[in-house]
Amino acid sequence: MTAHNLSFALPPMAQIGEQYLVILAAVALLFPCSILSYIVVTPYWRLSRVLTGDWHIDIVKLHEKYGNLVRISPNEVALNTPSAVQTIYGHTGQPWVKGEWYQAWWQPAMNHPFFAETNPAIHRDLRRRVSKAYSMSYILQMEHFIDPLVDDIRSKLTALSGQSVDMSQWTQYFAFDAVGELAFGKAFGFIENQCDFNGLLESVYVYMTSTASFGFMPSKLILENGNLFGGLIPFEKIVREKLTLSGEPDRSDLLRHFQSAKNADGTPMSPQDVFGESMNVVGAGADTTAISVRAILRYVCSNPRVLQKLQAEINNASATGALSDLPNFAEGNALPYFQAVIKEALRVFPAVGYQLPRVVPSGGTEIEGKFLPANATVSVNGWALHRNKSIFGEDADEFRPERWLEGYTKLMESCYASFGFGSRTCIGKNMALMEINKVEPPSLLL
Ligand SMILES: *[C@@H]1O[C@H](CO)[C@@H](O)[C@H](O)[C@H]1NC(C)=O
Ligand SMILES: *[C@@H]1O[C@H](CO)[C@@H](O)[C@H](O)[C@H]1NC(C)=O
Ligand SMILES: *[C@@H]1O[C@H](CO)[C@@H](O)[C@H](O)[C@H]1NC(C)=O
Repeated sequence: MTAHNLSFALPPMAQIGEQYLVILAAVALLFPCSILSYIVVTPYWRLSRVLTGDWHIDIVKLHEKYGNLVRISPNEVALNTPSAVQTIYGHTGQPWVKGEWYQAWWQPAMNHPFFAETNPAIHRDLRRRVSKAYSMSYILQMEHFIDPLVDDIRSKLTALSGQSVDMSQWTQYFAFDAVGELAFGKAFGFIENQCDFNGLLESVYVYMTSTASFGFMPSKLILENGNLFGGLIPFEKIVREKLTLSGEPDRSDLLRHFQSAKNADGTPMSPQDVFGESMNVVGAGADTTAISVRAILRYVCSNPRVLQKLQAEINNASATGALSDLPNFAEGNALPYFQAVIKEALRVFPAVGYQLPRVVPSGGTEIEGKFLPANATVSVNGWALHRNKSIFGEDADEFRPERWLEGYTKLMESCYASFGFGSRTCIGKNMALMEINKVEPPSLLL
């Protein structure tokens, strides 16, 4: 790893003003193969690391090497301590506003994604419009819609037994179909077709990775939207089609809820906003769940001790009638070891590998003995925080579900970043946990 340039001296490009970067970006667009385009695309060390896809590993090593406060780009400092979490994400006091990176998520097609809204009051109102749809009680009203998917995936995988199957794909099929059921009243059909038959998975992947990377570009010119590589085209088209289908009457789904949702002033949400929220749930709610389902399978299957203990718990629950053939959320939730396994897998493998950037408020602040001026960006990375031994213990690098049963502390809980923090906690958390609790036990018994 080339972390030697991470001193507190500014890298050369940072001394060039933003205007010059805009000009350079324009040149790069006109002459895409020129050396200039390379310079513009990778002016910062961090962006180049993000583009390799290994940032979540880099950041852990950086904290190991440089300590709890590391400068990762000209204007951004990464931290991995409990007090940083408290100060930045507002367990107490006013939470800090989101950093510039989130601007890349302002897509014309998405209208007003509250995920990217930096103003806390506007964010609160936008989130409030739809929060009921994501509440556990509403999600649980819909949980039986997931049963046929679990049943189908189990029989398809059983039919493939003896062959090697790519679970990264199957977990995607499941998570996207589940969003189809919950958001639009009908699965997309990935499990049925056993492939990315309409290109949605590829499209969301391209859109998410390009937008997330462009958020780190020093100029917002090229970043106007993540559509640069066409990532949004099938994604938008497929969601639009879903909106035009008239679902079964009397069936609950998120779309129905969005359509009757009200703005803060009592007016109905516009069709454009309904579309934006529908894009959000597909973009943010499927891939992240697939990653989590997969992380659990991966850690359990590669730890025979844990696998055996978990299977014993699941088998006993099935034998005593405490776990249905197609489990429901409440049954899964009542199995303590299973819950510890979920929590631990998402600790060692949080779905989001990026920093969660925030802006230092006016007046500046002192964190971990360093003064950070107003407008500097500060961020905590879940991967790095979760591997801090002073929080999770000397074996923080290990997958050991028992830590949540025997060694549980409030400190661990307050530093659990898998669904974000405070008022910006992932709105889809209940949906993800419901799906995980239903699909995981049958998958582990295959
Ligand atoms: C972990 O957090 C503690 C504070 O609880 C801090 O002192 C330490 O430097 C952090 N560890 C690393 C590797 O940064
Ligand atoms: C087996 O399941 C029953 C209830 O379904 C429960 O009371 C008991 O504690 C379980 N035993 C083990 C070893 O998990
Ligand atoms: C921080 O940014 C705001 C808005 O861009 C600006 O008005 C203010 O002067 C900046 N403060 C510092 C200390 O740079």
